Amino acid sequence: MSVSLWMFTILGWAGGIVLLILVILFLQDVLQKEHAIRRNFPVIGRLRYFLERQGEFFRQYFFAMDREEQPFNRATRTWIYRTAKGIGGLVGFGSTNDLREPGSYIFVNAPYPLLEEECEPSPPLVIGPRCAHPFEARHPFNVSGMSYGALSAPAVRALSLGAAEAGIWINTGEGGLAPYHLEGGGDIVFQIGTAKYGVRDAEGRLSDQRLKEVAERVKAFEIKLSQGAKPGRGGVLPAHKVTAEIARIRGIPEGKVSSSPNRHPEIRSHLDLLRMIHHIREVTGRPVGFKMALGSDIYPRLLCEEVVRLGPDFAPDFITVDGGEGGTGAAPQVLADHVALPIGEALPLLVDLLMEYGLKDRIRVIASGKLVDSGRVAWALCAGADFVVSARGFMFALGCIQSLQCHNNSCPTGITTHNQRLQKGLVVEEKARRVASYAHWVNHEVDRLAHACGLANARLFRREHVRIVQRAGHSLPLDQIYPYPHRSQRPI
Ligand SMILES: Cc1cc2nc3c(=O)[nH]c(=O)nc-3n(C[C@H](O)[C@H](O)[C@H](O)COP(=O)(O)O)c2cc1C
Repeated sequence: MSVSLWMFTILGWAGGIVLLILVILFLQDVLQKEHAIRRNFPVIGRLRYFLERQGEFFRQYFFAMDREEQPFNRATRTWIYRTAKGIGGLVGFGSTNDLREPGSYIFVNAPYPLLEEECEPSPPLVIGPRCAHPFEARHPFNVSGMSYGALSAPAVRALSLGAAEAGIWINTGEGGLAPYHLEGGGDIVFQIGTAKYGVRDAEGRLSDQRLKEVAERVKAFEIKLSQGAKPGRGGVLPAHKVTAEIARIRGIPEGKVSSSPNRHPEIRSHLDLLRMIHHIREVTGRPVGFKMALGSDIYPRLLCEEVVRLGPDFAPDFITVDGGEGGTGAAPQVLADHVALPIGEALPLLVDLLMEYGLKDRIRVIASGKLVDSGRVAWALCAGADFVVSARGFMFALGCIQSLQCHNNSCPTGITTHNQRLQKGLVVEEKARRVASYAHWVNHEVDRLAHACGLANARLFRREHVRIVQRAGHSLPLDQIYPYPHRSQRPI
Protein backbone atom coordinates (compact mmCIF):
# COMPACT_ATOMS: atom_id res chain seq x y z
CA MET A 1 0.00 0.00 0.00
CA SER A 2 1.33 3.46 -0.84
CA VAL A 3 2.07 6.05 1.86
CA SER A 4 -0.79 8.33 0.77
CA LEU A 5 -3.26 5.45 0.99
CA TRP A 6 -2.05 4.76 4.55
CA MET A 7 -2.59 8.35 5.45
CA PHE A 8 -6.12 8.38 4.03
CA THR A 9 -6.97 5.20 5.94
CA ILE A 10 -5.67 6.61 9.24
CA LEU A 11 -7.48 9.92 8.71
CA GLY A 12 -10.64 8.04 7.81
CA TRP A 13 -10.47 6.05 11.06
CA ALA A 14 -9.68 9.14 13.16
CA GLY A 15 -12.58 11.02 11.52
CA GLY A 16 -14.90 8.09 12.19
CA ILE A 17 -13.88 7.95 15.88
CA VAL A 18 -14.37 11.72 16.31
CA LEU A 19 -17.79 11.46 14.62
CA LEU A 20 -18.75 8.58 16.91
CA ILE A 21 -17.72 10.56 20.02
CA LEU A 22 -19.73 13.57 18.82
CA VAL A 23 -22.78 11.38 18.24
CA ILE A 24 -22.44 9.89 21.78
CA LEU A 25 -22.09 13.38 23.30
CA PHE A 26 -25.04 14.59 21.24
CA LEU A 27 -27.23 11.75 22.47
CA GLN A 28 -26.07 12.23 26.08
CA ASP A 29 -26.93 15.93 25.91
CA VAL A 30 -30.39 15.66 24.34
CA LEU A 31 -31.39 12.76 26.61
CA GLN A 32 -30.19 14.21 29.95
CA LYS A 33 -32.69 16.30 31.92
CA GLU A 34 -30.46 18.33 34.23
CA HIS A 35 -29.06 21.10 32.00
CA ALA A 36 -31.33 23.13 29.69
CA ILE A 37 -28.40 24.57 27.73
CA ARG A 38 -27.07 21.09 26.85
CA ARG A 39 -30.54 19.86 25.80
CA ASN A 40 -31.14 22.93 23.60
CA PHE A 41 -27.60 23.24 22.20
CA PRO A 42 -26.16 19.71 22.26
CA VAL A 43 -22.34 19.30 22.28
CA ILE A 44 -21.55 23.00 21.70
CA GLY A 45 -23.46 23.91 24.91
CA ARG A 46 -20.81 22.04 26.90
CA LEU A 47 -18.34 24.80 26.13
CA ARG A 48 -20.24 27.07 28.49
CA TYR A 49 -19.44 24.89 31.54
CA PHE A 50 -15.85 24.42 30.47
CA LEU A 51 -15.24 28.15 29.86
CA GLU A 52 -17.07 29.19 33.03
CA ARG A 53 -14.72 26.99 35.07
CA GLN A 54 -11.61 28.12 33.20
CA GLY A 55 -12.63 31.78 33.59
CA GLU A 56 -12.09 31.44 37.33
CA PHE A 57 -8.44 30.66 36.74
CA PHE A 58 -7.61 32.81 33.72
CA ARG A 59 -9.54 36.00 34.52
CA GLN A 60 -6.78 37.26 36.78
CA TYR A 61 -4.14 36.83 34.07
CA PHE A 62 -5.86 38.23 30.99
CA PHE A 63 -9.05 40.12 31.65
CA ALA A 64 -9.23 41.72 35.10
CA MET A 65 -7.82 45.24 35.45
CA ASP A 66 -5.18 45.94 38.12
CA ARG A 67 -7.64 47.42 40.61
CA GLU A 68 -10.87 45.55 39.95
CA GLU A 69 -10.69 41.96 41.29
CA GLN A 70 -12.21 40.67 44.55
CA PRO A 71 -11.39 39.89 47.28
CA PHE A 72 -7.94 41.33 46.48
CA ASN A 73 -7.00 43.09 43.27
CA ARG A 74 -3.81 42.52 41.34
CA ALA A 75 -2.22 45.80 42.48
CA THR A 76 -2.55 44.77 46.13
CA ARG A 77 -1.39 41.20 45.53
CA THR A 78 1.59 42.35 43.51
CA TRP A 79 2.56 44.83 46.20
CA ILE A 80 2.54 42.04 48.80
CA TYR A 81 4.52 39.66 46.55
CA ARG A 82 7.13 42.34 45.95
CA THR A 83 7.54 43.33 49.59
CA ALA A 84 7.62 39.64 50.57
CA LYS A 85 10.43 39.07 48.08
CA GLY A 86 12.20 42.13 49.45
CA ILE A 87 12.22 43.87 46.07
CA GLY A 88 10.36 46.88 47.40
CA GLY A 89 7.07 48.62 46.80
CA LEU A 90 8.38 51.22 44.33
CA VAL A 91 6.25 52.25 41.35
CA GLY A 92 7.31 54.14 38.25
CA PHE A 93 5.52 56.89 36.32
CA GLY A 94 2.66 57.30 38.82
CA SER A 95 -0.03 55.61 40.86
CA THR A 96 -2.91 53.69 39.28
CA ASN A 97 -4.91 54.27 42.48
CA ASP A 98 -7.92 56.43 41.64
CA LEU A 99 -8.13 58.96 44.46
CA ARG A 100 -11.61 60.03 43.31
CA GLU A 101 -13.08 56.66 44.36
CA PRO A 102 -15.29 56.94 47.49
CA GLY A 103 -13.61 55.26 50.45
CA SER A 104 -10.02 55.93 49.31
CA TYR A 105 -7.61 57.02 52.04
CA ILE A 106 -5.53 60.16 51.76
CA PHE A 107 -2.98 60.74 54.52
CA VAL A 108 -2.47 64.33 55.60
CA ASN A 109 1.14 65.12 54.89
CA ALA A 110 2.95 67.63 57.08
CA PRO A 111 4.57 70.62 55.37
CA TYR A 112 7.75 69.92 57.33
CA PRO A 113 8.02 66.14 57.82
CA LEU A 114 10.47 64.80 60.37
CA LEU A 115 14.09 64.30 59.39
CA GLU A 116 15.24 60.69 59.27
CA GLU A 117 17.26 61.18 62.46
CA GLU A 118 14.19 62.51 64.32
CA CYS A 119 12.16 59.38 63.46
CA GLU A 120 11.89 56.21 65.46
CA PRO A 121 10.20 52.85 64.96
CA SER A 122 6.89 52.31 66.78
CA PRO A 123 7.59 51.32 70.39
CA PRO A 124 6.28 48.00 71.80
CA LEU A 125 2.90 48.03 73.53
CA VAL A 126 1.92 45.93 76.53
CA ILE A 127 -1.25 43.82 76.41
CA GLY A 128 -2.70 42.93 79.83
CA PRO A 129 -0.46 45.00 82.11
CA ARG A 130 -2.42 43.76 85.16
CA CYS A 131 -1.73 40.08 84.43
CA ALA A 132 0.88 37.95 86.13
CA HIS A 133 2.58 37.65 82.72
CA PRO A 134 1.82 40.70 80.56
CA PHE A 135 2.54 40.40 76.85
CA GLU A 136 4.82 43.04 75.36
CA ALA A 137 3.94 43.03 71.66
CA ARG A 138 6.71 44.53 69.61
CA HIS A 139 5.07 45.64 66.36
CA PRO A 140 1.65 46.91 65.21
CA PHE A 141 1.21 44.38 62.36
CA ASN A 142 0.89 40.65 63.19
CA VAL A 143 -0.51 37.34 61.93
CA SER A 144 -4.24 36.65 62.35
CA GLY A 145 -5.78 33.30 63.41
CA MET A 146 -5.57 30.48 60.87
CA SER A 147 -5.74 26.97 62.24
CA TYR A 148 -3.44 24.08 61.47
CA GLY A 149 -5.96 22.14 59.48
CA ALA A 150 -7.19 25.06 57.42
CA LEU A 151 -3.46 25.60 56.73
CA SER A 152 -0.97 22.88 55.81
CA ALA A 153 1.98 21.94 58.02
CA PRO A 154 4.60 23.64 55.78
CA ALA A 155 2.49 26.82 55.71
CA VAL A 156 2.27 26.94 59.52
CA ARG A 157 6.00 26.22 59.81
CA ALA A 158 6.88 29.03 57.39
CA LEU A 159 4.58 31.43 59.26
CA SER A 160 6.06 30.46 62.60
CA LEU A 161 9.68 30.86 61.44
CA GLY A 162 9.02 34.07 59.49
CA ALA A 163 7.00 35.71 62.27
CA ALA A 164 9.70 34.92 64.83
CA GLU A 165 12.32 36.48 62.56
CA ALA A 166 10.19 39.63 62.16
CA GLY A 167 9.39 39.81 65.90
CA ILE A 168 5.62 39.60 65.43
CA TRP A 169 3.06 37.20 66.90
CA ILE A 170 1.11 34.43 65.21
CA ASN A 171 -2.38 33.39 66.27
CA THR A 172 -3.06 29.63 66.25
CA GLY A 173 -6.65 29.92 65.03
CA GLU A 174 -9.15 27.59 66.61
CA GLY A 175 -7.49 24.29 65.69
CA GLY A 176 -5.24 23.98 68.75
CA LEU A 177 -1.47 24.23 69.17
CA ALA A 178 0.52 22.15 66.68
CA PRO A 179 4.27 21.47 66.98
CA TYR A 180 4.66 23.55 63.81
CA HIS A 181 3.46 26.69 65.62
CA LEU A 182 6.36 26.31 68.05
CA GLU A 183 9.07 25.80 65.45
CA GLY A 184 10.10 29.46 65.12
CA GLY A 185 10.14 30.04 68.89
CA GLY A 186 8.33 33.39 68.54
CA ASP A 187 5.26 34.87 70.21
CA ILE A 188 2.01 32.91 69.98
CA VAL A 189 -1.57 33.89 70.75
CA PHE A 190 -3.65 30.77 71.40
CA GLN A 191 -7.21 30.92 70.15
CA ILE A 192 -9.95 29.11 72.06
CA GLY A 193 -12.66 28.22 69.57
CA THR A 194 -16.13 27.06 70.47
CA ALA A 195 -15.02 23.40 70.36
CA LYS A 196 -12.04 24.20 72.67
CA TYR A 197 -9.66 22.26 70.43
CA GLY A 198 -6.35 21.78 72.24
CA VAL A 199 -7.69 22.80 75.68
CA ARG A 200 -10.64 20.45 76.14
CA ASP A 201 -11.16 17.49 78.42
CA ALA A 202 -12.55 14.10 77.38
CA GLU A 203 -16.10 15.51 77.45
CA GLY A 204 -15.17 18.50 75.30
CA ARG A 205 -15.28 21.03 78.19
CA LEU A 206 -12.61 23.62 78.92
CA SER A 207 -9.81 21.92 80.88
CA ASP A 208 -7.85 24.03 83.40
CA GLN A 209 -5.06 21.49 83.30
CA ARG A 210 -4.70 21.82 79.52
CA LEU A 211 -4.92 25.63 79.80
CA LYS A 212 -2.00 25.62 82.22
CA GLU A 213 0.07 23.41 79.93
CA VAL A 214 -0.63 25.58 76.90
CA ALA A 215 0.04 28.76 78.90
CA GLU A 216 3.67 27.65 79.27
CA ARG A 217 4.10 28.07 75.53
CA VAL A 218 1.97 31.02 74.50
CA LYS A 219 1.77 34.74 75.32
CA ALA A 220 -1.98 35.30 75.40
CA PHE A 221 -5.38 33.64 74.93
CA GLU A 222 -8.11 34.76 72.54
CA ILE A 223 -11.65 33.45 72.97
CA LYS A 224 -13.27 33.29 69.57
CA LEU A 225 -16.89 34.45 69.61
CA SER A 226 -17.12 34.97 65.88
CA GLN A 227 -15.17 35.87 62.76
CA GLY A 228 -16.24 38.30 60.06
CA ALA A 229 -16.61 35.76 57.26
CA LYS A 230 -19.17 33.63 59.10
CA PRO A 231 -20.67 35.13 62.24
CA GLY A 232 -23.10 32.71 63.83
CA ARG A 233 -21.36 29.69 62.32
CA GLY A 234 -18.65 27.62 63.98
CA GLY A 235 -15.45 26.47 62.32
CA VAL A 236 -15.73 23.87 59.59
CA LEU A 237 -12.91 21.61 58.50
CA PRO A 238 -14.10 19.39 55.65
CA ALA A 239 -13.65 15.62 56.25
CA HIS A 240 -10.90 15.25 53.63
CA LYS A 241 -8.76 17.74 55.57
CA VAL A 242 -9.07 15.92 58.93
CA THR A 243 -5.87 13.85 58.80
CA ALA A 244 -4.74 11.53 61.60
CA GLU A 245 -2.39 14.18 63.01
CA ILE A 246 -5.01 16.95 62.95
CA ALA A 247 -7.52 14.62 64.57
CA ARG A 248 -4.98 13.92 67.36
CA ILE A 249 -4.20 17.61 67.96
CA ARG A 250 -7.89 18.54 68.06
CA GLY A 251 -9.05 15.44 69.92
CA ILE A 252 -11.62 14.41 67.27
CA PRO A 253 -12.18 11.41 64.94
CA GLU A 254 -10.06 11.20 61.78
CA GLY A 255 -11.64 11.66 58.32
CA LYS A 256 -14.91 13.08 59.66
CA VAL A 257 -15.99 16.69 59.15
CA SER A 258 -14.79 18.82 62.08
CA SER A 259 -17.54 21.31 62.95
CA SER A 260 -17.35 23.43 66.06
CA PRO A 261 -20.58 24.75 67.64
CA ASN A 262 -21.77 28.17 66.55
CA ARG A 263 -21.46 29.45 70.13
CA HIS A 264 -19.47 28.54 73.25
CA PRO A 265 -22.10 26.42 75.00
CA GLU A 266 -21.21 27.98 78.38
CA ILE A 267 -21.27 31.62 77.16
CA ARG A 268 -24.84 32.88 76.86
CA SER A 269 -24.35 36.48 77.95
CA HIS A 270 -21.78 39.23 78.46
CA LEU A 271 -21.57 38.21 82.10
CA ASP A 272 -20.68 34.62 81.12
CA LEU A 273 -18.04 35.94 78.72
CA LEU A 274 -16.41 38.23 81.28
CA ARG A 275 -16.43 35.45 83.88
CA MET A 276 -14.76 33.10 81.41
CA ILE A 277 -12.11 35.73 80.60
CA HIS A 278 -11.46 36.28 84.29
CA HIS A 279 -11.23 32.54 84.92
CA ILE A 280 -8.75 31.85 82.10
CA ARG A 281 -6.61 34.79 83.22
CA GLU A 282 -6.63 33.50 86.82
CA VAL A 283 -5.67 29.98 85.71
CA THR A 284 -2.97 30.95 83.21
CA GLY A 285 -1.67 34.34 84.34
CA ARG A 286 -1.73 35.39 80.68
CA PRO A 287 -3.67 38.21 79.01
CA VAL A 288 -7.07 37.11 77.73
CA GLY A 289 -9.24 38.80 75.12
CA PHE A 290 -11.85 37.83 72.60
CA LYS A 291 -12.51 38.06 68.89
CA MET A 292 -15.79 39.05 67.29
CA ALA A 293 -17.42 40.61 64.29
CA LEU A 294 -19.82 43.48 65.03
CA GLY A 295 -23.38 43.77 63.74
CA SER A 296 -24.17 47.08 65.44
CA ASP A 297 -23.24 49.13 68.52
CA ILE A 298 -25.94 47.55 70.73
CA TYR A 299 -24.05 44.53 72.09
CA PRO A 300 -20.64 46.16 72.54
CA ARG A 301 -22.33 49.00 74.42
CA LEU A 302 -23.99 46.54 76.80
CA LEU A 303 -20.67 44.78 77.18
CA CYS A 304 -18.93 48.04 78.14
CA GLU A 305 -21.65 48.68 80.72
CA GLU A 306 -21.11 45.20 82.16
CA VAL A 307 -17.32 45.72 82.31
CA VAL A 308 -17.79 49.03 84.12
CA ARG A 309 -20.21 47.34 86.54
CA LEU A 310 -17.88 44.41 87.32
CA GLY A 311 -14.69 46.47 87.44
CA PRO A 312 -11.36 46.34 85.58
CA ASP A 313 -10.42 42.87 86.92
CA PHE A 314 -13.09 41.40 84.68
CA ALA A 315 -12.26 43.46 81.59
CA PRO A 316 -10.85 41.70 78.56
CA ASP A 317 -7.22 42.62 77.93
CA PHE A 318 -7.96 43.03 74.25
CA ILE A 319 -10.76 42.83 71.73
CA THR A 320 -10.09 41.67 68.20
CA VAL A 321 -12.66 43.17 65.87
CA ASP A 322 -12.94 41.37 62.54
CA GLY A 323 -14.65 43.06 59.60
CA GLY A 324 -17.44 41.35 57.67
CA GLU A 325 -15.09 41.23 54.67
CA GLY A 326 -12.79 38.83 56.57
CA GLY A 327 -11.48 35.63 55.03
CA THR A 328 -12.07 32.01 55.95
CA GLY A 329 -11.00 28.46 55.25
CA ALA A 330 -14.64 27.56 54.52
CA ALA A 331 -17.90 29.49 55.05
CA PRO A 332 -21.43 29.60 53.66
CA GLN A 333 -21.54 32.31 51.00
CA VAL A 334 -24.62 34.01 52.45
CA LEU A 335 -22.81 34.66 55.75
CA ALA A 336 -19.63 35.77 54.00
CA ASP A 337 -21.55 38.12 51.69
CA HIS A 338 -24.13 39.68 53.98
CA VAL A 339 -23.39 39.42 57.71
CA ALA A 340 -21.40 41.79 59.99
CA LEU A 341 -20.15 45.34 59.50
CA PRO A 342 -17.06 45.94 57.40
CA ILE A 343 -14.00 46.98 59.38
CA GLY A 344 -14.24 50.58 58.10
CA GLU A 345 -17.40 50.98 60.18
CA ALA A 346 -16.86 48.41 62.93
CA LEU A 347 -13.47 49.67 64.12
CA PRO A 348 -14.34 53.34 64.81
CA LEU A 349 -17.62 52.19 66.37
CA LEU A 350 -15.84 49.91 68.86
CA VAL A 351 -13.08 52.43 69.61
CA ASP A 352 -15.66 55.17 70.26
CA LEU A 353 -17.55 52.97 72.72
CA LEU A 354 -14.37 52.07 74.60
CA MET A 355 -13.47 55.76 74.82
CA GLU A 356 -16.98 56.71 75.89
CA TYR A 357 -16.81 54.22 78.79
CA GLY A 358 -13.21 55.15 79.69
CA LEU A 359 -11.93 51.68 78.74
CA LYS A 360 -9.70 52.48 75.78
CA ASP A 361 -6.46 52.40 77.80
CA ARG A 362 -7.45 49.20 79.61
CA ILE A 363 -8.56 47.19 76.56
CA ARG A 364 -6.28 46.96 73.53
CA VAL A 365 -8.00 46.93 70.15
CA ILE A 366 -6.83 44.58 67.42
CA ALA A 367 -8.35 45.06 63.95
CA SER A 368 -8.60 42.80 60.91
CA GLY A 369 -10.42 42.64 57.60
CA LYS A 370 -8.45 43.10 54.39
CA LEU A 371 -5.92 45.30 56.21
CA VAL A 372 -3.07 43.85 54.19
CA ASP A 373 -0.92 46.77 53.07
CA SER A 374 0.77 49.63 54.87
CA GLY A 375 -1.87 52.21 53.84
CA ARG A 376 -4.74 50.16 55.25
CA VAL A 377 -2.81 49.29 58.40
CA ALA A 378 -2.02 52.98 58.96
CA TRP A 379 -5.72 53.84 58.46
CA ALA A 380 -6.64 51.34 61.21
CA LEU A 381 -4.11 52.87 63.59
CA CYS A 382 -5.55 56.34 62.81
CA ALA A 383 -9.05 55.02 63.54
CA GLY A 384 -7.90 53.82 66.98
CA ALA A 385 -6.59 50.26 66.60
CA ASP A 386 -3.58 49.37 68.75
CA PHE A 387 -2.67 46.43 66.50
CA VAL A 388 -3.65 45.08 63.13
CA VAL A 389 -3.62 41.42 62.16
CA SER A 390 -3.95 39.80 58.77
CA ALA A 391 -4.54 36.28 57.55
CA ARG A 392 -4.69 36.57 53.77
CA GLY A 393 -1.89 39.14 53.57
CA PHE A 394 0.40 36.49 55.03
CA MET A 395 -1.09 33.85 52.75
CA PHE A 396 -0.01 35.99 49.79
CA ALA A 397 3.44 36.25 51.35
CA LEU A 398 3.43 32.43 51.44
CA GLY A 399 2.69 32.41 47.70
CA CYS A 400 -1.16 32.26 47.60
CA ILE A 401 -2.45 33.05 44.10
CA GLN A 402 -6.09 33.61 45.16
CA SER A 403 -7.39 30.50 43.45
CA LEU A 404 -10.24 30.39 46.04
CA GLN A 405 -9.69 26.68 46.79
CA CYS A 406 -9.17 26.88 50.61
CA HIS A 407 -12.27 24.75 51.30
CA ASN A 408 -11.13 21.99 48.91
CA ASN A 409 -8.02 19.94 49.38
CA SER A 410 -6.61 21.24 46.12
CA CYS A 411 -4.79 24.50 46.89
CA PRO A 412 -2.26 24.72 44.04
CA THR A 413 0.34 26.48 46.21
CA GLY A 414 0.32 23.94 49.06
CA ILE A 415 -0.90 26.48 51.63
CA THR A 416 -4.36 25.11 52.45
CA THR A 417 -4.06 21.50 51.33
CA HIS A 418 -2.93 18.29 53.01
CA ASN A 419 -2.07 16.75 49.65
CA GLN A 420 1.64 16.08 50.06
CA ARG A 421 2.38 16.39 46.35
CA LEU A 422 0.99 19.95 46.34
CA GLN A 423 2.71 20.78 49.65
CA LYS A 424 6.09 20.04 48.03
CA GLY A 425 5.79 23.32 46.11
CA LEU A 426 5.98 25.28 49.38
CA VAL A 427 9.62 25.48 50.44
CA VAL A 428 9.47 26.40 54.11
CA GLU A 429 12.76 28.30 54.45
CA GLU A 430 12.11 30.42 51.34
CA LYS A 431 8.55 31.29 52.34
CA ALA A 432 9.57 32.00 55.95
CA ARG A 433 11.96 34.64 54.59
CA ARG A 434 9.07 36.14 52.62
CA VAL A 435 6.77 36.20 55.64
CA ALA A 436 9.46 38.02 57.63
CA SER A 437 10.17 40.47 54.82
CA TYR A 438 6.47 41.28 54.30
CA ALA A 439 5.90 41.85 58.03
CA HIS A 440 9.03 43.95 58.28
CA TRP A 441 8.05 46.17 55.32
CA VAL A 442 4.48 46.74 56.46
CA ASN A 443 5.61 47.73 59.94
CA HIS A 444 8.39 49.88 58.49
CA GLU A 445 6.17 51.62 55.93
CA VAL A 446 3.46 52.37 58.47
CA ASP A 447 6.09 54.31 60.42
CA ARG A 448 7.22 55.91 57.15
CA LEU A 449 3.67 57.14 56.54
CA ALA A 450 3.62 58.56 60.08
CA HIS A 451 6.85 60.41 59.36
CA ALA A 452 5.31 61.93 56.22
CA CYS A 453 2.47 63.18 58.46
CA GLY A 454 5.00 64.83 60.78
CA LEU A 455 4.83 62.16 63.51
CA ALA A 456 7.77 60.41 65.13
CA ASN A 457 6.13 56.97 64.82
CA ALA A 458 2.89 55.24 63.85
CA ARG A 459 1.64 54.92 67.44
CA LEU A 460 0.97 58.69 67.30
CA PHE A 461 -1.53 58.42 64.45
CA ARG A 462 -4.94 60.01 65.16
CA ARG A 463 -8.09 60.31 63.08
CA GLU A 464 -7.22 63.77 61.77
CA HIS A 465 -4.19 62.30 59.98
CA VAL A 466 -6.26 60.54 57.34
CA ARG A 467 -8.99 61.81 55.04
CA ILE A 468 -11.58 59.59 53.39
CA VAL A 469 -12.85 60.36 49.91
CA GLN A 470 -16.64 60.81 50.02
CA ARG A 471 -17.17 61.46 46.32
CA ALA A 472 -14.91 62.45 43.44
CA GLY A 473 -12.94 65.53 44.48
CA HIS A 474 -14.30 65.71 48.03
CA SER A 475 -12.66 64.12 51.08
CA LEU A 476 -13.19 64.59 54.82
CA PRO A 477 -10.84 63.98 57.75
CA LEU A 478 -11.71 60.78 59.62
CA ASP A 479 -12.32 62.73 62.85
CA GLN A 480 -15.15 64.59 61.11
CA ILE A 481 -16.74 61.39 59.86
CA TYR A 482 -16.28 59.67 63.23
CA PRO A 483 -15.84 62.49 65.80
CA TYR A 484 -14.14 61.44 69.03
CA PRO A 485 -16.93 60.85 71.59
CA HIS A 486 -15.85 63.38 74.21
CA ARG A 487 -13.27 65.99 73.33
CA SER A 488 -11.87 65.60 76.84
CA GLN A 489 -11.23 61.90 76.21
CA ARG A 490 -9.67 62.42 72.82
CA PRO A 491 -6.27 60.72 72.97
CA ILE A 492 -3.30 63.09 72.71
C1 LIG B 1 -7.53 30.00 55.63
C2 LIG B 1 -8.11 30.81 56.75
C3 LIG B 1 -8.33 30.22 57.99
C4 LIG B 1 -8.87 30.96 59.04
N1 LIG B 1 -9.05 30.38 60.27
C5 LIG B 1 -9.51 31.12 61.30
C6 LIG B 1 -9.62 30.56 62.60
O1 LIG B 1 -9.29 29.42 62.86
N2 LIG B 1 -10.09 31.37 63.59
C7 LIG B 1 -10.43 32.70 63.36
O2 LIG B 1 -10.84 33.39 64.29
N3 LIG B 1 -10.33 33.23 62.14
C8 LIG B 1 -9.87 32.49 61.11
N4 LIG B 1 -9.73 33.07 59.88
C9 LIG B 1 -10.07 34.51 59.73
C10 LIG B 1 -8.82 35.39 59.89
O3 LIG B 1 -8.19 35.18 61.12
C11 LIG B 1 -9.14 36.89 59.78
O4 LIG B 1 -9.96 37.25 60.85
C12 LIG B 1 -9.83 37.29 58.49
O5 LIG B 1 -9.40 36.54 57.39
C13 LIG B 1 -9.59 38.77 58.20
O6 LIG B 1 -8.24 39.01 57.92
P1 LIG B 1 -7.69 39.14 56.40
O7 LIG B 1 -8.69 39.97 55.66
O8 LIG B 1 -6.36 39.80 56.55
O9 LIG B 1 -7.61 37.78 55.84
C14 LIG B 1 -9.20 32.32 58.82
C15 LIG B 1 -8.99 32.90 57.58
C16 LIG B 1 -8.46 32.18 56.55
C17 LIG B 1 -8.21 32.85 55.22
